Amino acid sequence: MATEEEILARLRPGCICKGIRLHTIITAINQGAASFQEVAGKTGIGGGSCGSKRCGLKVVELLSQKKSGPAPPPAPATDSPARPSPDGAQTENSARNNE
Ligand code: FES
Repeated sequence: MATEEEILARLRPGCICKGIRLHTIITAINQGAASFQEVAGKTGIGGGSCGSKRCGLKVVELLSQKKSGPAPPPAPATDSPARPSPDGAQTENSARNNE
């Protein structure tokens, strides 16, 4: 089953001048293309009226993301440990934990 990110990549433009979707570029990179020239060779992007400025920037960004790896998932929320308040009364958290 495709993730939401994959579905969006199928809809988003990769090279507007040539009408090639972002998903095609991502697939080429995942299959080993490591430069704009290699991606262009596999997908047909580039050489359009923008002089490859738009799709070139996307390819550079995607390649740098691949090198740095995906962003780590956010840390899970944790309950703070129960701590008595300075006057000895229970805090909301400690009262909840004692139930
Ligand atoms: S967007 Fe790819 S050549 Fe213009």
